[in-house]
Amino acid sequence: MTLQIKKLGKYVGAEITGIDLRQPQDMKIKTAINKALSDHVAIVVRGQNFTPQEYVEAAKVLGDPFPQNFTDYNHPDVEIINIVSNQHRDDEGKRIKRGGNWHTDHTNHECPPKFTVLYAVDVPRHGGNTAICNMQKAYEHLPDYLKEKIEGRETVNVNQGRAAARISPKAVKRENEQKSTPINHPIIRTHPENHRKAIFFHPIKTDYLTGYTPEETKNLFADILMEGIKEEFVYNHQWSDGDMLVWDNRQAMHRAIHDYDPKEQRQMYRLLIQGDRPF
Ligand SMILES: [Fe+2]
Repeated sequence: MTLQIKKLGKYVGAEITGIDLRQPQDMKIKTAINKALSDHVAIVVRGQNFTPQEYVEAAKVLGDPFPQNFTDYNHPDVEIINIVSNQHRDDEGKRIKRGGNWHTDHTNHECPPKFTVLYAVDVPRHGGNTAICNMQKAYEHLPDYLKEKIEGRETVNVNQGRAAARISPKAVKRENEQKSTPINHPIIRTHPENHRKAIFFHPIKTDYLTGYTPEETKNLFADILMEGIKEEFVYNHQWSDGDMLVWDNRQAMHRAIHDYDPKEQRQMYRLLIQGDRPF
């Protein structure tokens, strides 16, 4: 088999074929896959048929799996896998819709995951896409007045910050009780491989941006997303069962589109891959 890489979107996405991820991969293949992520921001390998353990082994081609925040939803047999499902419900019995707004994963860690991996176990017939935006392009096209406002600033990250557009009193209470250790990250980060600058933040995990109040941060984030995220910078992944999608959190933000029939199942296995300290 020969590995092939075909571009999908203008600024995000490439499909990789000619690889059986259930087999051990040599260094040449690992380097090619990691380079494809640096070059294309996201990659998809279609038609996989993994057991949970095989999936974890396959993802090691990308690096070391990283423990997840929402342990309630971890796979019962293979705990490093987090199950993302529209069947999960909150304490009041309402369906939990995770990741519907633009964000990047797990910024409350000193070294947040460089990649997020989703494997489609069961997907709705229509809708339920995952959207991925190239945040280097978003930064490049940001108006100068916004670039100046965020230049040199850092997000202060906790489990549940106050800069989110919508934040429940329950979440604030939980944060106050748990008192997570704040972790600072540059809001403009440099990719360690392609050396380009990208906007990097998670609204829910940000308590505030240095030099601004939580309220000012919330408004600034809204402006950045509105001005920076353009349709042409976004790849919308339309899911089929067996797709394995990976994106590079060092240069992407993502969101799930909750537009499908809620009676249908949408279940993914998520893995995170250890990253380095953003700079
Ligand atoms: Fe996410």
